[in-house]
Amino acid sequence: CGIIGYTGRLDALTVLLEGLEQLEYRGYDSAGVALLSSGNDRFLMKKAGPVATLKDACTTVDIESHCGIGHTRWATHGGVNDINAHPHIAGRITLIHNGIIENYHNLIDRFGFRESLVSETDTEVAAKLLDHYYEGDPYAAIRKTIREITGSYAFCIMFEDIHDQIFCVRNISPMVAAHMEDGSFVASDVTAIIPYTNRYFVIPEYQIVTLRQDGISVQDLDGNPVELEILEVSWNVEAAKKNGYPHYMLKEIHEQPEALRNTILPRLRDGIPDFSEDEIPDELFSFCDKIAIVACGTAMYAGMVGKALVEPIIKIPVSVNVASEFRYENPLVDDRTLVIVISQSGETIDTLAALRLSKERGAKILSVVNVKGSTIARESDYVFYTHAGPEIAVASTKAYMVQLASLYLIGCRMSMVRGKFSQKDAGEFVSRLLDTIPAVQKILENKAKLKTAASILAKAKDAFFVGRGLDYAFSLEGSLKLKEISYIHAEAYAAGELKHGTIALIEEDTPVIAVATQDHIYAKTISNIKEVKARGAFVILITKQHAEITDDICDMHFSVPVPHDRFTVFPVAVILQLLAYYTSDMKGLNVDKPRNLAKSVTVE
Ligand code: G6P
Repeated sequence: CGIIGYTGRLDALTVLLEGLEQLEYRGYDSAGVALLSSGNDRFLMKKAGPVATLKDACTTVDIESHCGIGHTRWATHGGVNDINAHPHIAGRITLIHNGIIENYHNLIDRFGFRESLVSETDTEVAAKLLDHYYEGDPYAAIRKTIREITGSYAFCIMFEDIHDQIFCVRNISPMVAAHMEDGSFVASDVTAIIPYTNRYFVIPEYQIVTLRQDGISVQDLDGNPVELEILEVSWNVEAAKKNGYPHYMLKEIHEQPEALRNTILPRLRDGIPDFSEDEIPDELFSFCDKIAIVACGTAMYAGMVGKALVEPIIKIPVSVNVASEFRYENPLVDDRTLVIVISQSGETIDTLAALRLSKERGAKILSVVNVKGSTIARESDYVFYTHAGPEIAVASTKAYMVQLASLYLIGCRMSMVRGKFSQKDAGEFVSRLLDTIPAVQKILENKAKLKTAASILAKAKDAFFVGRGLDYAFSLEGSLKLKEISYIHAEAYAAGELKHGTIALIEEDTPVIAVATQDHIYAKTISNIKEVKARGAFVILITKQHAEITDDICDMHFSVPVPHDRFTVFPVAVILQLLAYYTSDMKGLNVDKPRNLAKSVTVE
């Protein structure tokens, strides 16, 4: 969900609606705003549907207000409708919430709220509890309320009789705040704040933040003032705009060469990975006897490539774990394990929970994160920041690309530290990694044929991605990209596994996207492709340049200008991203905001 709050001299409704548009990628089931005026009038508008629907509903609003809160929802408790949308009002309290209140049923029974609830949400229960405890001292009411609540939350609260202040408190769910001449802001992430300032702070957990027109104060739960750590965003407002592209996703796909440069180049000294600026010591790579990679979604698929690359070189076990499963399966993690946590947002709650469990078990945590100061970054022992800049499209592209580059750099340094790579090997590895940047650029410059392939995919009900080894690891992400934005059922299979079941699903013209860029298994993959071709599949084949291709193998062929097997993922990823993008666009779907998904999932 997206949260925005503002108090200051500007028109609050305008600020909130603009902020919600920036934050919409965090959730777009419904949206709402609440405003307070100096005459103590309270205004509430909330609508199921996108922010645009809310905006339309607000066109005739005539209220002078300089203080308000707004929310975009990704539904957890209660269906998508106007009533369940935030803000929620209970008595003198107006509230928005991101997270899940786990004991809300219990609270309803204990406090006898059942009869008077109007929505089906856990959030309304928090509003009721605050109203129950409010006797003129907002801090006392907040303290008492959060003592009762278990779960995750980021709350922005307005009290009816305090017309120019917003009170915020959080546990786990992210929230940042900033103050400048025009007033004070709170938001679930910096994208809503950067049009006004690039200086902000992360609201510390279990501290109460008060936004006033002329400043922000923070106190702990005992009422003691708290010093804040101000952070700066390194990108500007332009980076979070579409800049002439029809969709954020296409813009972000095109930003990949730059993102790769920004992530790789600062980590090179004499052509060799060097992480002294990141303060990552070499001991981190030598102490461990196993590595566990933990992540969700696309980040997890980047981890699959990392494993396929690194394990054969360093020859210790590398596991890739779905974060939401990891914490419940009693994972084999101990003080000899290096846990690599990968997350674009740095806020995914499943990933964070897995990190905390690993830490408890004595593992060392290295996180690969895109968002500076995010919770995962702050809780890790070491952070390797990816420099993708803001990623707005829900389907991840450039963040995946730089996660890969980071794993390649980490893998290279680790191989050196563990005596598997000489200086010369490392230098060669890096120069091949750098060669992928122009290769990615080249794919971006030759997109026409990809549109033709997409027009075929757009008609399909199912699609299969196949490959072996590293190619299989890339295919997993290709298949996720296609299904999440085009709603075509897509699955990735290890090519050799096809004949053990999936081949039954191949019919005349079923698209099969086959990736075959690994020399040592090329012939085997081609045999598997022939098996599906013989059964009528429409085969789109991706190989390295100069591969010998005959007409009976495929219906369309793409090649990537990278000669070394280990590095083909970078241009192949771009091909797969563009295939998904054009397919979704041709189907007339909402490319940047696919149904039911959210960019950053801060609930379990
Ligand atoms: C959500 C997004 C995915 C993303 C995943 C992990 O499910 O829709 O695109 O890959 O979260 O996000 P993270 O920010 O941890 O990389």
